[in-house]
Amino acid sequence: MTFFTPIIIISLILLVITILLAIADRLLVNYGECKIIVHQDEERQEFVVQGGSPLLTELTNNGIEVNSSCGGKATCGYCKVTVLSGGGEILPTEEIFMSRKEKLNQMRLACQVKVKNDIEIFIPDFLTTVRGIVENETFDPKLRWRVTREDGVYPEMMAKKLNITAEDEMRVAGILEKHREDPGPVVPVLQDINKTYNHLPEDILRLAADKLDMPLSELYRIATFYNAFTFEPKGRNIIRVCMGTSCYVKGGQRILEMAEKKLGIEVDKATEDLKFSLETVSCIGCCGQSPVISLNEDIHGYFKIDMLDKILDEVD
Ligand code: FES
Ligand code: FES
Repeated sequence: MTFFTPIIIISLILLVITILLAIADRLLVNYGECKIIVHQDEERQEFVVQGGSPLLTELTNNGIEVNSSCGGKATCGYCKVTVLSGGGEILPTEEIFMSRKEKLNQMRLACQVKVKNDIEIFIPDFLTTVRGIVENETFDPKLRWRVTREDGVYPEMMAKKLNITAEDEMRVAGILEKHREDPGPVVPVLQDINKTYNHLPEDILRLAADKLDMPLSELYRIATFYNAFTFEPKGRNIIRVCMGTSCYVKGGQRILEMAEKKLGIEVDKATEDLKFSLETVSCIGCCGQSPVISLNEDIHGYFKIDMLDKILDEVD
């Protein structure tokens, strides 16, 4: 008998016990058929499973990939879903991964929820997830949801859901074709979309992400990195009110408030007819003439509130 023999025997006994427990769990505890309803974006899927396995396993088996880097050991915290009904109490192993807000939103780790009865869950869509990441400034490329789908096929279901016209499809196809040979096509594609639509519409980004065969979250990450891209439609004429120290002390704030009132919009928004966008800037570089505002390329120094109407009338 060697030094290792007792260790091997104990390991074998533990292995046998684990196998027996797993078999007993499957055979003796019969959870029966359970219905899983999954909401994602505006999509809803429903499938019936034989209860007993963790939710993460059942989702994966049914073609819904929820990210996991720990393989279901409840150590990575990536497999978060919102449980709308069913699923029992939150476990201590899950609690440590959840913020207060997430707990209030009934978030659970899909690998820890065992499917014992009907269960209804919501999986955040790409943008919700990415926006959350951008807000918290902790982007992690691994932290995203994926739905598997047939390769290379633009799903009918998705096309219907997007609010895009045939003209949009043609425009996007033209932009992609133009940059097909570019070594890094993503930024030029985003630039062209931004130029064409005056901003980056969400549905157009979804379409482009699909055609580029890349996750929407990646496209969104790149778009949020560059200030040149905007997610709100911009007006044809951009008014920038300088809020740098020199302009601020000479009435920049009052000019801004008056511009908001006259245009009927808040800063960083565009008028409904898309004639104007209102922005602030931290210094235009003409502090000697403060307060300063700019309208498109024109700088207006020593600006007085009663000059506003005149310069607004100057443009179409
Ligand atoms: S898969 Fe890692 S925590 Fe659930
Ligand atoms: S602070 Fe306004 S132009 Fe410099």
